[in-house]
Amino acid sequence: MFENLNYENKSGIAFVTVNRPAVLNALNTATMRDLRSVFEQIKADDTVRVVILTGSGDKAFVAGADINELARLDAVEGKDYSLGGQAVFDSIEQLGKPVIAAVNGYALGGGCELAMACTFRIASENAVFGQPEVKLGIIPGYGGTQRLARLVGRGQAAQMLVTGEIIKAAEALRIGLVNQVVAHQDLMAVAEGIAKKIMANAPLAVKFCLDAIDRGMEFEATLFGLSCATEDMKEGTKAFLEKRAPNFRGK
Ligand code: COA
Repeated sequence: MFENLNYENKSGIAFVTVNRPAVLNALNTATMRDLRSVFEQIKADDTVRVVILTGSGDKAFVAGADINELARLDAVEGKDYSLGGQAVFDSIEQLGKPVIAAVNGYALGGGCELAMACTFRIASENAVFGQPEVKLGIIPGYGGTQRLARLVGRGQAAQMLVTGEIIKAAEALRIGLVNQVVAHQDLMAVAEGIAKKIMANAPLAVKFCLDAIDRGMEFEATLFGLSCATEDMKEGTKAFLEKRAPNFRGK
């Protein structure tokens, strides 16, 4: 169904795997098109509650934008290329459902930017991160300058951006770029375990949390009020008081 992605919906968890292992899952135009359509499909599919995004093979999450394509861009094409990629990554960030990046190897350039567009990141011990664009004479164009500074602070972000240096998983954990580092063979099981914890919660409340993170205090208050009007809120609070598990229905 997709040229360079594997997609599977397993009991409400959507597994999206970037699949160009011969080039370490580098993002070419066709792969970006696939990402745009898979996330459109996921957004419209009420059976999907959580997404886990990873890369195919043992070596790479995504080793960046495809340098063969980058090398041919002129100024006008470059701006369009960047705006187009930003729109795809924005659609991941604003999906309204949690997207867990399971970072299983190289997350460089566009790969690091893709991981940062996800809701949060779990990394395997062999994962490495970096924005090496300055070494190619360019800068990150898929939101990296903005998202990196938001995640790890201006100082750490600036250092990574202007040195282009690669950092290992442990350092990514220390600066807050990833939430957890796990053994390579445990990565998908850990991500799935987190997805299942999220799925036990009230779907609308999860969506409202994500919306509120992005849109500030007044919006938080509006959504808090709205969550008080849901059937799930009545059920969640009642179940707690009756000392039983809630039966959420997403209403
Ligand atoms: N775009 C296009 N092709 C890429 C790529 C990218 N971003 N990253 C890796 N590849 C290709 C390599 O050209 C190579 O292809 P080949 O077998 O036809 O020669 C293949 O993937 C394997 O990569 P290779 O460099 O041989 O693996 P390695 O283990 O020696 O090194 C990296 C791995 C990630 C350190 C190295 O591939 C690299 O530096 N990639 C570019 C990273 C980058 O600058 N990304 C930001 C782009 S904006």
